[in-house]
Amino acid sequence: MRSLSLPNQLTPIGERLLLYRAPAPRQTASFGDDVRAGLSALQKRVSPRYFYDELGSALFEAICFLPEYYLTRAETEILERFAGTILARFKGPIDLIEFGSGSARKTRILIGALLERQVQANYHPIDISPSALIDSSMALVAEYERLHVTAYADDYFEVLSSARLSTSDRVLALFLGSNIGNYEPHEAEALLCAMSAAFKPGDALLLGTDLKKSSKVLELAYNDPTGVTAAFDKNLLGRINRELGGHFDLDAFDHVARYDVVRGVVESFLVARRGQTVPIDALGMEARFVASETIHTESSYKFAADDVIRLAARSGFRVEQRWTDSEERFAVSLLVIE
Ligand code: TRP
Repeated sequence: MRSLSLPNQLTPIGERLLLYRAPAPRQTASFGDDVRAGLSALQKRVSPRYFYDELGSALFEAICFLPEYYLTRAETEILERFAGTILARFKGPIDLIEFGSGSARKTRILIGALLERQVQANYHPIDISPSALIDSSMALVAEYERLHVTAYADDYFEVLSSARLSTSDRVLALFLGSNIGNYEPHEAEALLCAMSAAFKPGDALLLGTDLKKSSKVLELAYNDPTGVTAAFDKNLLGRINRELGGHFDLDAFDHVARYDVVRGVVESFLVARRGQTVPIDALGMEARFVASETIHTESSYKFAADDVIRLAARSGFRVEQRWTDSEERFAVSLLVIE
């Protein structure tokens, strides 16, 4: 908002809130470049990181209220039940770092529990969407008088490698909502490796993962009959229209979600209803589709208990404890750096 061009991009937005914003060239260059590469590929794709502009973040909030999208409620149940147990494991004060904070509704459960045991707390949310990050951070400092927030609107890897996150206290990092499932297995491993490299031995990561389960339940969670998820997925095309001068007709695409049992992943696609050519002015290109051609928009990997143990072992963590909801749909695991 004010003076974002400060040399270190760290802007005070209030007494207990600092905002770090990615340098502007990195933000805009990458969307156009990624769309060009993704829509020129043999299997067309748009990265799910672009879902979360202001409208996309609001639509995702709505998804979390859908009866079919059980993930948020199951994870909330676990945190409400076990926040005290999780925090009791740490002796001294801890700093919270959250990857992909969104509205930070679930985080409030942990912040509330943390402020019951220490006088003040530092919370460092990292989110690619500046609007969601600013809104939720302002709400948090207003709500919790003893909370200090340093918010980072940037890519996780950028923040982790920048050494900006140096904290003196014990760190509990949060990676909730099964966001880890949106990475390909090798990327998930690279991200957890970057976390274990940036934190100290004894620091920990609270990791939320959706469990493998029946195709029927999973596919409904990613394609609800109300059509909110379809709107969320199609917002990627809307965003290309708004920001890159695209000419997508959103009615000319269907949202489809399929669970691949063998790979343990729900994949979301936008499917062209008919052959079409779509100019994208700012990129000086045309995206050509034959009928039924797909754009891959997201993979959501699902995890059995062993999958988490293996991932942790490959990235410098050890699974210390694991909690599930009463219906065994979702798991929250505490990973500790060796
Ligand atoms: N990170 C969420 C998930 O994997 C995002 C999401 C929910 C999503 N519903 C979707 C992404 C439908 C694409 C399509 O659960």
